Amino acid sequence: MKALILVGGYGTRLRPLTLTLPKPLVEFGNRPMILHQIESLAAAGVTDIVLAVNYRPDIMAKALKKYEEEYNVNIEFSVETEPLGTAGPLKLAEKTLGKDDAPFFVLNSDVICDYPLEELAAFHKAHGEEGTIVVTKVEEPSKYGVVVHKPDHPSRIDRFVEKPVEFVGNRINAGLYILNPTVLNRIELRPTSIEQETFPAIVKDGQLHSFDLEGFWMDVGQPKDFLSGTCLYLSSLTKKGSKKIEASSKPYVYGGNVMVDPSAKIGKNCRIGPNVTIGPNVIIGDGVRIQRSVLLDGSRVKDHAWVKSTIVGWRSTIGKWARLENVSVLGEDVTIGDEIYVNGGSILPHKSIKQNVDVPAIIM
Ligand code: GDD
Ligand code: MG
Repeated sequence: MKALILVGGYGTRLRPLTLTLPKPLVEFGNRPMILHQIESLAAAGVTDIVLAVNYRPDIMAKALKKYEEEYNVNIEFSVETEPLGTAGPLKLAEKTLGKDDAPFFVLNSDVICDYPLEELAAFHKAHGEEGTIVVTKVEEPSKYGVVVHKPDHPSRIDRFVEKPVEFVGNRINAGLYILNPTVLNRIELRPTSIEQETFPAIVKDGQLHSFDLEGFWMDVGQPKDFLSGTCLYLSSLTKKGSKKIEASSKPYVYGGNVMVDPSAKIGKNCRIGPNVTIGPNVIIGDGVRIQRSVLLDGSRVKDHAWVKSTIVGWRSTIGKWARLENVSVLGEDVTIGDEIYVNGGSILPHKSIKQNVDVPAIIM
């Protein structure tokens, strides 16, 4: 089978992390975000994966080459010279996606869930029409594409409204699709949106269906949602009894849902959790309290620091007795001084913070 992952966009909402790495390479649950998808596609029998990129393809190509062998898939980079939106990239990759009559998957690169790809393919085959999109229910549908159904049919879509201004429903496009190659005939090679142009056209012909997602789902393309998504992902692993979750009998684990890379070092009398991921080569001092946070590769938290709802960028350091909270994000190689307080600070790479950040702010 074939698939395309939409990897473009500049990931501006996930700054300052995306100043260092393209969004799909930022580690979620200690693995590059896009690897969660590559792994699920491979498990569903996909052998040809097209990565539609328009931003730093060289870094992506270098980082992902090794996974071709690991997952036994061909990864092809389809590079746009100008951003082609969410539909244009499908046309650009027509040679691969349209090489046979079999349907192909399309994935947004920033969504996290238990990708139900085999069930989706079976459902799509059973109704026999042009496209199927995965839908999930959310509280705040206005930031997403909303799906409205025909009253007389369990899955056929009646309307697709991208980022509705007025409430039309709470079942939203989860950013995972399976489409027949005939959809490519509907798309022109230009910047164009699958949500604004292609889906409404397929809906008009009564050929677009929805498939309900089970379990958790989150678009992790911005820091607040990245942290919420981490909580959902870790809870889901805990429920499944995954070995990636630290046993609650470990002395530092507090409240569960804690993932620690084996190379990380944790000091004495720490309280870590709930909902924390600790990446490779992280060093944590004594008496540290961490909850609802993500610590990326090589970061360091010194003695008695208190860290909540924070993403700590690669090789950053948090000083002794420092206190961070309220969706603070430290870019790469940031230093937070001893006893400093950071409230919702977004701190650009290589900065050294010596004064409190009392109210949420971007520190450049
Ligand atoms: N190759 C390429 N080129 N990819 C792009 C481009 C582009 O010009 N623009 C955006 N993308 C990729 C992004 O990297 C992301 O993986 C995906 O397309 C969707 O773009 P976002 O910018 O993340 O869109 P969104 O989150 O506001 O909305 C989309 O996702 C929601 C679910 O998370 C829409 O598909 C909504 O309908 C959906 O509900
Ligand atoms: Mg998104």
